[in-house]
Amino acid sequence: MTAGPVDEAGFRALTQKIAAERGFSCANYKDGCLRRRIAVRMRARDAADFAAYSLLLDRDPAEFDALIDTLTINVTKLYRDASVWDMVGSTVVPALWQQGQRQLTVWSAGCSSGEELYTLAALFHAHAMRTLTEPQLQTLRIIGSDIDRASLEAARRGAYAPEAFSEMPAPLKARYFSAEAPHVAAPELKALVDVERRDLLRDPAPAGGLNLITCRNVVIYFGRESQEPLMRKFHDALAPGGYLVLGKVETLLGPLRSLFEAVDARQRIFRRAA
Ligand SMILES: C[S@@+](CC[C@H](N)C(=O)[O-])C[C@H]1O[C@@H](n2cnc3c(N)ncnc32)[C@H](O)[C@@H]1O
Repeated sequence: MTAGPVDEAGFRALTQKIAAERGFSCANYKDGCLRRRIAVRMRARDAADFAAYSLLLDRDPAEFDALIDTLTINVTKLYRDASVWDMVGSTVVPALWQQGQRQLTVWSAGCSSGEELYTLAALFHAHAMRTLTEPQLQTLRIIGSDIDRASLEAARRGAYAPEAFSEMPAPLKARYFSAEAPHVAAPELKALVDVERRDLLRDPAPAGGLNLITCRNVVIYFGRESQEPLMRKFHDALAPGGYLVLGKVETLLGPLRSLFEAVDARQRIFRRAA
């Protein structure tokens, strides 16, 4: 394969094509990560250079799908990084229900195939069943969004292989997912969630004063200059005192720290400051 760092014009043309035809704006992602992932697909299809690969994308829409799939990095799990969800379940969820809001809105931003979405739904539902009445559940709406359409279809199905549950406490799995594999999310969880396509870098946040935003293992792939506007968008979208949960290796950079106060810095749980 001759394509590489020297063929900058070819690389630029390819990224422009991806943005124009699939709405995936490569400019906002970490360059090294992007190049490595494009190279993976080019090797898989024996493309000699960026121009040849671009022609292949025109001829073979399935390869374009495979490329987008590779670029979006959809790896996820239910209850991924269990200690964070233990903390969300024991502190954030009760605090939010206790505030007695008329409407409670949660946003899983970059929800991939929905594992994070149903993790949230299970934690909120389990707490509500212990302490609230059934009608109070109707005040809760959990929105899952992602840029990747194939992931969103999987999120709507909400059916997962046994391996996806390796971190989820067994009682939660038994209560909220069908016994047979693939394990399907219970209707009471599905009733709580809405799945929609949103590009975090281009589209607005859901309206209405959000109470909790989880955005985990997503901004790590964005360039630094894209992270700041996104965190400001999250800040503005949150209701006063609303929570933000980031991924285990993600953090708030520089001036962004004044927008949020740390609730549990280790678990990357923050709250909107004033
Ligand atoms: C590694 S998964 C994270 C899934 C889940 N939040 C978790 O932590 O397990 C990253 C997700 O971010 C999505 N993503 C990447 N860029 C995006 C963008 N600009 N807007 C919305 N979602 C995006 C990808 O499609 C992918 O599903």
